[in-house]
Amino acid sequence: MAAGASTASVIDGKAAAAELREDLARRVARLKEERGVTPGLAVILVGDDPASAIYVRNKGRAAARAGMEAADIKLAASTTREALLEAVAARNADPSVHGILVQLPLPGHIDAAEIVDAIDPDKDVDGLHVVNAGRLAAGLAGMVPCTPLGCLILLKRTLGALEGRKALVLGRSNLVGKPMAQLLIREHCTVTVAHSRTRDLAGECRAADILVVAAGRPQLVRGDWIKPGAAVIDVGINRIDGGGDKPDLVGDVAFDEAARVAGAITPVPGGVGPMTIACLLENTYAAACRSAGAEPEAPR
Ligand code: GUN
Repeated sequence: MAAGASTASVIDGKAAAAELREDLARRVARLKEERGVTPGLAVILVGDDPASAIYVRNKGRAAARAGMEAADIKLAASTTREALLEAVAARNADPSVHGILVQLPLPGHIDAAEIVDAIDPDKDVDGLHVVNAGRLAAGLAGMVPCTPLGCLILLKRTLGALEGRKALVLGRSNLVGKPMAQLLIREHCTVTVAHSRTRDLAGECRAADILVVAAGRPQLVRGDWIKPGAAVIDVGINRIDGGGDKPDLVGDVAFDEAARVAGAITPVPGGVGPMTIACLLENTYAAACRSAGAEPEAPR
């Protein structure tokens, strides 16, 4: 192989997500047939942030394609806290809605934590309710946040059992870093959580067999931060002005450099992103099964 050529296998999140969604459509059809239940997802969008509008549209389309009922609830940016709480309460009370997602970020006058915690934890398909965070930390069954769940599925597809491996999670958000660390502990990894104040971040990364990066900093992780042969999962999606020379969508990992050292790596786009929506649908399906007293069927 030529010096400096890529050696890592590229983890195809798009293909993995398509497989998962196809299998899910089969399970949804079975749930309908056997229990007469169609999983229902309500997505609430407040304001008119264009990126959020695209995400919400994609979620609704993917749900419909899997045979689910999807309702988009669009509220003005000036919506009051009280009106949003009412919108959430109405879906909590609606038995045809099994999953509720309030798209983040919310306008500055609304406290996101209060709204998320108003969602019925059993309909919290984002897994962000404090009860679901607690269940995950305690090793109990509950809704798991979609992005870390997607990362875990990709890791298990790539590596098989994760037991005993050293994992480093770079980032400590409630949405990704913290639940990711909990999931890796559940898989019997030895887990370190690093962040912007970590001393010798490069050295910490270099010790890891599994590196999950959710730092929100474009191309922060360089090739020489990576242990040869490591599995690298890049959660970042950053738009940069590449001056026409570079891609305008990049991850938190410098992909070309990293791919020369890693054993396997997710691309951006086409890595973690597609898995997030697939996992949202999985959570909605599982919520619908439980509401009907049925055990969710695992993917084949
Ligand atoms: N905004 C960006 N990512 C997410 C997500 O996973 N869930 C919600 N609710 N909002 C988001």
